[in-house]
Amino acid sequence: MAETVAVILAAGQGKRMHSRLPKVLHRVAGRSLLEHVLAATREAGIEDNIIVIGHGAGEVKAALGTEQKYAFQEQQLGTGHALAQAREAAGEAATILVLCGDTPLIRPATLTGLLQQHRDTGAAVTILSARIADPTGYGRIIRDGQGRVKGIVEERDATPAEKAINEINTGIYCFAAAFLWPALTRLKPDNDQGEYYLTDAVALAVSQGLRVETLVAGDAEEVLGVNDRAQLAAAGAVWRRRINAAHMQSGVTIIDPETTYIDVTVTIGRDTIIYPGTFLEGNTIIGAGCCLGPGTTIRDSQVGDGSTIIHAVVLESTIGPGCQIGPFAYLRPGTILEACVKVGDFVEIKATRVGRGSKVPHLTYLGDATVGREVNIGAGTITCNYDGRQKWPTIIEDGAFIGSNTNLVAPVRVGAGALIGAGSTITEDVPAGSLALAREKQVNLPSRGKKGEEKRQEKR
Ligand code: UD1
Ligand code: CA
Repeated sequence: MAETVAVILAAGQGKRMHSRLPKVLHRVAGRSLLEHVLAATREAGIEDNIIVIGHGAGEVKAALGTEQKYAFQEQQLGTGHALAQAREAAGEAATILVLCGDTPLIRPATLTGLLQQHRDTGAAVTILSARIADPTGYGRIIRDGQGRVKGIVEERDATPAEKAINEINTGIYCFAAAFLWPALTRLKPDNDQGEYYLTDAVALAVSQGLRVETLVAGDAEEVLGVNDRAQLAAAGAVWRRRINAAHMQSGVTIIDPETTYIDVTVTIGRDTIIYPGTFLEGNTIIGAGCCLGPGTTIRDSQVGDGSTIIHAVVLESTIGPGCQIGPFAYLRPGTILEACVKVGDFVEIKATRVGRGSKVPHLTYLGDATVGREVNIGAGTITCNYDGRQKWPTIIEDGAFIGSNTNLVAPVRVGAGALIGAGSTITEDVPAGSLALAREKQVNLPSRGKKGEEKRQEKR
């Protein structure tokens, strides 16, 4: 067991969210609130993390995985009671860093600073506080005439004078284990909510003559607690600003950072330009010198250097370098485009590989297909890959030319260099180099017939 463990309180329901989902699983910038907190403690060098779960425990476990260490709070009786549930899992650790699962903006450096101050002063408790313009909803730090901390009072238990205090409790603290564990057994639920408040442990330390320290967070933004959807949006906005600033710092042009939504998990090469209304999500890797957007969503995909993607949706796909996608293209999972492929307007591609230099310029569906190099797919080409029961493959070899409005009824293979006449419905393999025509022969009748001519006259 490490000297320091972090305990993240995440058992509450989050009533103010009015949600079926446990609060800490709501997401901003590509991670759940809880994952943001965990990432911060990990980056601060804390490897031993205990997550206290309760409400929606199954869902939280499913979302975060079984490799995490959990403690279980059966009934949500308050933050003090929640922390007590981690007693056993924390073992003999001497320092307990406590965080709430709903403060997703906390920075690793702030946690490191808090731990440092706690160790340097040998305090029983070191509280991370913050001075904020609107302290509504937070616990207030109560100090005596000399500025020494006396305790923390929750908003709902505060007098009007206490409510006017703008130094708030961030819900993040360091405790000396030797003080903490016995103190938790002495908490009383004598407050407006009838809960065991962890915050009451501070007054206990004071009454025992122990040292209580505070670190005032330099950046009040960092300590925002997410209790409702408005705060969720606010936290998302802060993350977005941070992420976009970091990308711009490292050489990415973002035309309008206010309307560009990039998950924390995304990497982007330099000199890429991102236009407004673009969402880069999940495990996405963007190369250098790309042009993305406007109005583009790319999720869990790789994009090679120098590719352009306009007004498109790209999901779980791999796009090679020098490709041109959109406007209005939909690349669904399993799409692989090799280098210099063009995918134009109103094209949908799924589970398909398209070879180097091939073109799918307009109005096409390719599903479960393998397309070779330098292939041209005419407008309106459709792979008929589904027979109502199962999906079948289509293979189009190098240099083939598919005429406009072709139906390729799978399973089917079009050989290298073959040509398919426009409007064909191809049900059988086309040998390499041959011309396939599969359409009704045109018939031109000598007269349009009297009836038709009369009708035409009437219309006039
Ligand atoms: C808490 C603090 C408040 C502080 C604020 C900072 C207390 C009593 N109050 O208030 O001083 O200003 O955080 O954001 O601690 N939880 C459990 N089990 C429970 C109750 C809560 O695990 O029985 C967890 C929640 O899931 C949440 C965290 O503890 O992640 C904080 O609970 P919440 O109800 O949001 O407390 P606040 O009212 O915000
Ligand atoms: Ca909270």
